[in-house]
Amino acid sequence: MKRIAVFTSGGDAPGMNAAIRAVVRTATYHGIEVYGIMRGYSGMIKGEFVRLDSASVSNTVQKGGTILKSARSMKFMTKEGRQQAFDQLVNNGIEGLVAIGGNGTFTGAMIFEEEFGIPTVGAPGTIDNDLYGTDYTIGYDTAVNTALECIDKIRDTADSHDRCFFVEVMGRDSGYIAIPCAIGGGAEIVMIPETQMSTDVVIDTLQSGWQRSKTSFIVIVAEGDEPGNATQVADRVKTAIPQLDTRVTIVGHIQRGGSPTAADRLLASQLGIAAVEGLMNGMRNVMAGIIDKKLVYTPFTDTINKKKLINQSFMRMVEILSV
Ligand code: F6P
Repeated sequence: MKRIAVFTSGGDAPGMNAAIRAVVRTATYHGIEVYGIMRGYSGMIKGEFVRLDSASVSNTVQKGGTILKSARSMKFMTKEGRQQAFDQLVNNGIEGLVAIGGNGTFTGAMIFEEEFGIPTVGAPGTIDNDLYGTDYTIGYDTAVNTALECIDKIRDTADSHDRCFFVEVMGRDSGYIAIPCAIGGGAEIVMIPETQMSTDVVIDTLQSGWQRSKTSFIVIVAEGDEPGNATQVADRVKTAIPQLDTRVTIVGHIQRGGSPTAADRLLASQLGIAAVEGLMNGMRNVMAGIIDKKLVYTPFTDTINKKKLINQSFMRMVEILSV
């Protein structure tokens, strides 16, 4: 393999730059030319390729966001768009791809590989940590720490004013961000899509806390939670317990930015190296991940279709620790 390309796609995540850097330096180390594709699949279709060498990724390991920028491309979902992307890769002599992103990124890569046969190895880059085939995704640790910092601050004011805060954190359809935020932030309740806790249980728990003389509460609500988002849950609770002074905070896109933690830099570097060396060893259509401290390559089809389960004992921990 003489020339490969790397791109980031979907929601950005802290540590993506560390992963790009690792890809570029690993390819360079092995004498492979590497190109960066700007704006994910969208840039692939338009031919936005830039030659990357070791120096072009200097001073990036600590930076949030992605130097290659990111986008969600509707056009790549069409056969015509994918044909254009393939033509661009062929014209630029690209023989393999490293895709850094989440579920949508790998779904696109899998279809593309099946249609046009360009080998692709993925590195999991998403704050959501919802990918089967790795214990942690790049960006997750940073996002959790960012959210936790916000929750600590909310706790101060909740305590001062005897209030109940409903704090909404990201995670798309999963509660991976919500769980450590609840345990580490000392929350009374955590609501995640995987368990679908009813609002009645929330009301009962808050009422019983109130009776035990608790005066401030934090309820962490994962954005994808059913039966509702933080605002909806807060409204229902306020109706049931009018004496509770409620507020809602949506942590939002703050979770996607910032300098990656040490854990994210390390993971991104490991997986960037693994992605390039996987391609060199003939791997295709797989995502590099770390499970139980070991490097594993999981087929995209499993990564996309299999659900990474939340350890239910974490829910019990929140219950015990908020007594
Ligand atoms: O996948 C990362 C993520 O931040 C999710 O947690 C969230 O649901 C989504 O992306 C937000 O997407 P956007 O930046 O397009 O609003």
